[in-house]
Amino acid sequence: GQANGKAFAGQFRTYEEDRNLPSQETVYATSNGVPIPHPYETQRAGTNGPLLLQDFHLIDLISHFDRERIPERVVHAKGSGAHGTFKCTKPLDDLCLADVFSKAGNECPVTVRFSTVGGEAGSHDCARDPRGFSVKFRTEEGNFDMVANNTPVFFLRDPAKFPHFIHTQKRDPSTHLTHSDDSTMFWDYLSQNPESIHQVMILMGDRGIPDGYRFMHGYGGHTLKLVNKAGDWVYAQMHMKSKQGTKFITQEDSANYSPDYSQKDLYGAIEKGDYPSWTVEFQTMTPKEAEELWEKQKINVFDLTHVWPHKQFPLREVGEFTLNENAKNYFAEIEQVAFNPAHLPPGIEPSADPVLQSRLFSYPDTHRHRIGANYQQLPVNSSRTSHRVANFQRDGNMAFYNQGSRPNYLSSIEPINFRERAVDLDNVHGKFVSEAVTFLSEIKPEDFNAPRALWEKVFDDKAKARFISNISGHMSTCRYPEIIKRQIAIFREVSEDIATRLEEATGIKGYNGIANMRFNGTHNGMTSNPTL
Ligand code: HEM
Repeated sequence: GQANGKAFAGQFRTYEEDRNLPSQETVYATSNGVPIPHPYETQRAGTNGPLLLQDFHLIDLISHFDRERIPERVVHAKGSGAHGTFKCTKPLDDLCLADVFSKAGNECPVTVRFSTVGGEAGSHDCARDPRGFSVKFRTEEGNFDMVANNTPVFFLRDPAKFPHFIHTQKRDPSTHLTHSDDSTMFWDYLSQNPESIHQVMILMGDRGIPDGYRFMHGYGGHTLKLVNKAGDWVYAQMHMKSKQGTKFITQEDSANYSPDYSQKDLYGAIEKGDYPSWTVEFQTMTPKEAEELWEKQKINVFDLTHVWPHKQFPLREVGEFTLNENAKNYFAEIEQVAFNPAHLPPGIEPSADPVLQSRLFSYPDTHRHRIGANYQQLPVNSSRTSHRVANFQRDGNMAFYNQGSRPNYLSSIEPINFRERAVDLDNVHGKFVSEAVTFLSEIKPEDFNAPRALWEKVFDDKAKARFISNISGHMSTCRYPEIIKRQIAIFREVSEDIATRLEEATGIKGYNGIANMRFNGTHNGMTSNPTL
């Protein structure tokens, strides 16, 4: 009967068919499929009378229009994306049992979305801001999402600070202005949270405005764990290196670009067959090396304000992906795509990094709000495995793929199949005994080492001059000199040279280092005064 699917054969359209259907092969119809001869005809009482409630065509049209908007992403609202293919070039099977990385030649489809962070959906592509870099690998073992940025570090190591920091880049509650008109909130936050300094150095340097999305690298930032077939594990960080190289736009020149420059650049390159690609590489570290790194260099692998020194932990290439197809429909394939750092296939596990741990919760939480409870059923979010997926999630809004007539409970009459876990995860995640409450953001001298290396060893003279001018320009709309004095003190811990140049550029004398400073909510570990 009908339950066998015969009576319904061919009735259910797939997105794959629809996205490739040319307009010439369609007929104008209402949402329930009834053809309508003319799109601009209305039913009306008499020649000049009111409209009729029975005119479903008009109501269908307008009521749908009324509901066109979904919430934009609370961060990373402005973005661009495309589809392509990942290919494993050098297997990582000694370290990781994930199928997608286990054999040279293994391939899977990917969807990538790039973004700016702070601005709204219509904001300028050439803003000075980190860039988001998300990749959905549709692997044989389910979707693996790498939700990365174009910088290896982040502004914070305590997730409780994220909403505060992000709010400083949103509109002021009262003036409704953003930090491009008034940078007070932005610098107020940064001058109270010095662990941000490494990321601030990158943001205010040349990498702060990449030239579109093709010319930038991507960094997972967080520490993950790779687990191999024997159940042994290592810490790992994923990097995506642009094969196009990197390019940047100066602050001055950024005014000459159109608001959708990055979208135009990425879409145009793919349309003309100039496909951008990135290599996928991992830094790895044994648990013992991680302990030594903490003991000797005070770098905690769960602290994403720090990088792993490349000389000690070289990159190992595992594959590459190429973007070779634009979205046919931006909303369906890019706006509704939902990336989640908790989407990890067997062989890749989260580490105890507190910011990562919070993100594992935050992303699917926001997707349920932004897109809806059944967002995973949307074509762009669904997995492409050769095993047919079954579970017991049913119903809810828009459950258009509701798993047919299969039981909605774990039935012994119609059992489903279970695949065994490849390795014992007890060993991977370990046992924890410690204090219940910790302060994640205490400031330490080591927080300034990497920023100092950037200034002294990476930036050349011209880059230094641009850096100073970028910061002093941005600070020119900060209404409180006190905030600038504090921020200069933080820069002084990086380098006396930066502090004096900023003093000249802003005309404000900064404090003399942070030893006597009290931070709003953050412990100062660089003072002998216990009350700070
Ligand atoms: C987007 C939360 C830190 C990279 C988002 C979204 C939320 C969020 C709610 C919107 C997602 C959506 O609507 O689809 C957080 C929280 C963080 C955090 C709570 C820290 C506590 C980070 C870090 C990175 C990152 C450290 C990079 C290493 C991204 C990217 C997107 C994003 C790339 C855009 C995803 C897309 O293209 O759809 N974040 N985030 N976030 N976040 Fe985070």
